Amino acid sequence: MKTFSFPVTSAVLMLLLAVGCTSTYKPVILVHGVLSGPSSFKTLTGFIKKAHPGTEVTAIDLFNNENSTKSMWEQIDGFAKVTQEIMEKSPEGVHLLCYSQGGLICRGVLSKLPNHNVQNFIALSSPLAGQYGVPDYLRNTFFLGIKSVYVWCYGLLKYFSVCNYWNDPHHHKEYLEYNKFLPLLNGEKTHSEMAEWKKNFLRIKKLVLIGGPDDDVITPWQSSHFGFYNNKESIIEMKKQNFYKKNPFGLKTLDTRGDLIVCTQSGVKHVEWHSNLSVFEKCIQKWLD
Ligand SMILES: *[C@@H]1O[C@H](CO)[C@@H](O)[C@H](O)[C@H]1NC(C)=O
Ligand SMILES: *[C@@H]1O[C@H](CO)[C@@H](O)[C@H](O)[C@H]1NC(C)=O
Repeated sequence: MKTFSFPVTSAVLMLLLAVGCTSTYKPVILVHGVLSGPSSFKTLTGFIKKAHPGTEVTAIDLFNNENSTKSMWEQIDGFAKVTQEIMEKSPEGVHLLCYSQGGLICRGVLSKLPNHNVQNFIALSSPLAGQYGVPDYLRNTFFLGIKSVYVWCYGLLKYFSVCNYWNDPHHHKEYLEYNKFLPLLNGEKTHSEMAEWKKNFLRIKKLVLIGGPDDDVITPWQSSHFGFYNNKESIIEMKKQNFYKKNPFGLKTLDTRGDLIVCTQSGVKHVEWHSNLSVFEKCIQKWLD
């Protein structure tokens, strides 16, 4: 027996050393935006690994490119499954960073997964209160005109992802009645799972909202901070929104707890958010500890 004790002891020692050398940074999960995929996060993954060596970063490879226009609920089910698998291998918890449309997908995932261990959730330029605008590069070719989009979005195109968060401030009644995604997620319309979703969502430690005035896609850009248009297209900021004041999904709770962080950066276009080092250093890095 004695002959075995040395190798066993050294194996235990090596294991202890290995554990000691392992990074203490939690794994990071990245969720991409519309008409995009995990490859869009190459630069960001580099930033994270350089700042926090040893971090395990997973850009989820699901609903890429054209598949990212499928209905939000369908995508949420898919992303929830993969997120769950990663979390089960990471009992210490993970961080979730979600870009653009991905921010709404992640909110759905966090609302629906009862035992998730997401610590910090970062929504990077996401249309959290909805979208009412067409990017400049589409405007000239856009045959409908923005005012009639709601007819399509709340009707025939209701399974098109962008329509799931199309929020026409001039047709709020139709939005509440026919949009089966955002009004439920934001608790603007009551539903039977509201309390459960809120409880699940509030398992996160911090909510970090990142956006800025030079974003040329998210409209209004304040939607990245839960602000939105009223029916005169004036901006109503987050704290004056009913979904903040009535607290149906926990936004006000997080704020009161001191766990809501808002980061504003000017000079950044929509497609640049995940590749800009100043944004990473100012708004992201410290929340990925
Ligand atoms: C989209 O989904 C289909 C079916 O699930 C799959 O065959 C296809 O490869 C996907 N496309 C992309 C770009 O991932
Ligand atoms: C990052 O954004 C800032 C504005 O906040 C800008 O001045 C800078 O040039 C950008 N950097 C890159 C590499 O695009």
